[in-house]
Amino acid sequence: MSRHFIVVMLLTTTAPAFVHAEVPTRSLRALPESVRSPASNALTPEKVELGKQLFFDPRLSGDNRMSCATCHIPQKAFADGLAKSPGNGGKLLARNTQGLANVGLFATFFWDGRASSLEEQALAPIESPEEMNQDIDELEKELNDVPGYVTQFQAIFGTLVTRDGIAKSLAAFQRTLVTKASPFDRYLAGDKAAISTAARRGLELFEGDAGCIQCHNGPLLSDGKFYRIGASWRDRGRGIITENPDDDYRFRTPTLRNVAETAPYMHDGSLKTLYDVVLFYFRGVPKATPEGQPLDIEPRVDSSFSDIDSLVAFLRSLTGELPDIGAPTLPQ
Ligand code: HEC
Ligand code: HEC
Repeated sequence: MSRHFIVVMLLTTTAPAFVHAEVPTRSLRALPESVRSPASNALTPEKVELGKQLFFDPRLSGDNRMSCATCHIPQKAFADGLAKSPGNGGKLLARNTQGLANVGLFATFFWDGRASSLEEQALAPIESPEEMNQDIDELEKELNDVPGYVTQFQAIFGTLVTRDGIAKSLAAFQRTLVTKASPFDRYLAGDKAAISTAARRGLELFEGDAGCIQCHNGPLLSDGKFYRIGASWRDRGRGIITENPDDDYRFRTPTLRNVAETAPYMHDGSLKTLYDVVLFYFRGVPKATPEGQPLDIEPRVDSSFSDIDSLVAFLRSLTGELPDIGAPTLPQ
């Protein structure tokens, strides 16, 4: 790649001048090749393999019928295509299942950011009565009766099966779910033809007039912060966690990596397609919350329908390859 080309690339991928100069982080960037692990949970191939087995193992649930992969399906970027997934006993969960592509790059987890590491997050769905409904003491006992697990835990952690080891292994496996080679990444690396003319126009809008980059930036196309954009008012989101009314209806900016594979959208799964999402931004954003609080965004009623198509084309160019994850043979 010529020097000149690199300069042009940097110019086209950093935020335009009218975005405040003090926040140069508002640019779109390539993903790292791998995700950093905390010192307390070094990533080893054996641990990742164990985490994969646990991820697919229905014995992690109270009735032995549901695994993480029941809701986080590898072929759907680890979401499940449903607005809301049936949990324990078939009752629908309160929120849309999040995809897990590149999840290890987030600093907080869940739509409301209530967990601050993947290790902390991992036991939550297992214990939740709404989800896998499993008593963790029981789970340790049950898995210690599986010689194939005991051997692996002893080799990796030097212990019997423990909740700590289960959480660490699940976290390590999820840190490997890094996507590669999306058309947009090839474009960022200098191959201008990797995305269509419509997608290039969409990118221009995304970084410019449509203002998407204000929140959807960095390698994940998420700033990891919490905003009130008004998709619906049934769920107070971040406000439930912080008990601060100023956080009511705020949700963490989702990643847009592989977003074309994780319909339906928003924390409540209320928007069916990417077209519907962009149309919402252009026409549907309400003025205020029912309590009269302002939103963090305004509808952009000046935009045309071809702008919507262009933004959708850009969002589709963000689909990268996930590692090929087949269901593993479960230990006996
Ligand atoms: C019954 C469906 C279901 C099952 C089973 C399930 N999840 Fe989830 N998962 C969800 C939903 C719904 C959310 C979003 C919940 C929220 O934000 O309150 C979620 C969120 C997550 C997140 C946060 C992603 C992010 O971007 O912050 C991770 C990580 C995750 N799940 C991993 C797991 C693991 C590991 C397991 C198995 C131990 C599991 N899930 C089992 C439905 C499920
Ligand atoms: C003020 C911050 C902000 C801006 C600006 C913004 N978004 Fe979002 N975006 C969010 C938040 C927060 C959500 C999640 C809202 C929810 O679940 O209720 C979201 C959700 C989405 C989703 C759904 C993702 C999913 O997995 O469900 C897409 C797609 C999306 N935004 C694209 C865009 C586009 C395109 C633009 C520009 C037209 C844009 N966003 C502007 C913060 C923002």
